[in-house]
Amino acid sequence: MSFSGLDPDRIPCHVACVMDGNGRWAEQRGLKRTDGHAAGEEALFDTAEGALELGIQWLTVYAFSTENWRRPADEVKFLMWFNQSLLERRRDELNDMGVRIRFIGRRDWRVPKRLLRCMDESVELTRDNKRMTLTIAFNYGGRAEIVDAVKALVADGVAPNKVTEKAIARRLYDPDMPEPDLMVRTSGEFRTSNFLLWEMAYSELVFSDTLWPDFRRQHLRDAVIEFQNRTRRFGGLSS
Ligand code: IPE
Ligand code: IPE
Ligand code: MG
Repeated sequence: MSFSGLDPDRIPCHVACVMDGNGRWAEQRGLKRTDGHAAGEEALFDTAEGALELGIQWLTVYAFSTENWRRPADEVKFLMWFNQSLLERRRDELNDMGVRIRFIGRRDWRVPKRLLRCMDESVELTRDNKRMTLTIAFNYGGRAEIVDAVKALVADGVAPNKVTEKAIARRLYDPDMPEPDLMVRTSGEFRTSNFLLWEMAYSELVFSDTLWPDFRRQHLRDAVIEFQNRTRRFGGLSS
């Protein structure tokens, strides 16, 4: 991938993606919605390779939200099976690429045991990799994450005067994960849909009309260029 138009010194450290539009991609082609999810696999791997080429350290992708249980049972079942199959088929490849796999989300009873096992094995296999962390948000909800952090605060017996932003951040699903610099959502929807609510307070948001199955490293690069054209102030003044 070419670096032209990109400032190699201002590559975002953490990019988060809402992989949206699989269903519409399939419908446009007279296919089943689940075919759209399957077609998203290539988009995910091309994007991950593009992120590695750019030197992005953290890539987080929204794979299944706490609200996606509202979908028809067949589609939910497919998504459970598909995510397990993708991990089983491709974790060695990710491992060879130097990718560390992590998960954020609720490990509740609705997630099949065999999928949870497969997730744990993938984390274990890739735990020492250093090139990039690919975090898969699965059964993830930003509100659920904050609720779970507050539960942990209470369980830890933290006194009210000790409840700080740091105390909450330390109890999120992955306390090591830096806040996303850039959030990209595909499919022309302008919302976050409960993704990384706490962490995205100061993320730059980029929206793309491309449906997720058509998303490639080139689109990621375009989003990074847009990111580099923004001025981040974090509430202060730009120098
Ligand atoms: C995103 O694609 C994948 C998941 C939410 C699991 P959608 O399935 O939401 O596709 P659209 O938005 O209906 O086109
Ligand atoms: C967000 O997409 C969740 C994932 C991409 C996994 P949705 O398609 O579920 O979001 P809404 O329903 O359009 O807000
Ligand atoms: Mg959608």
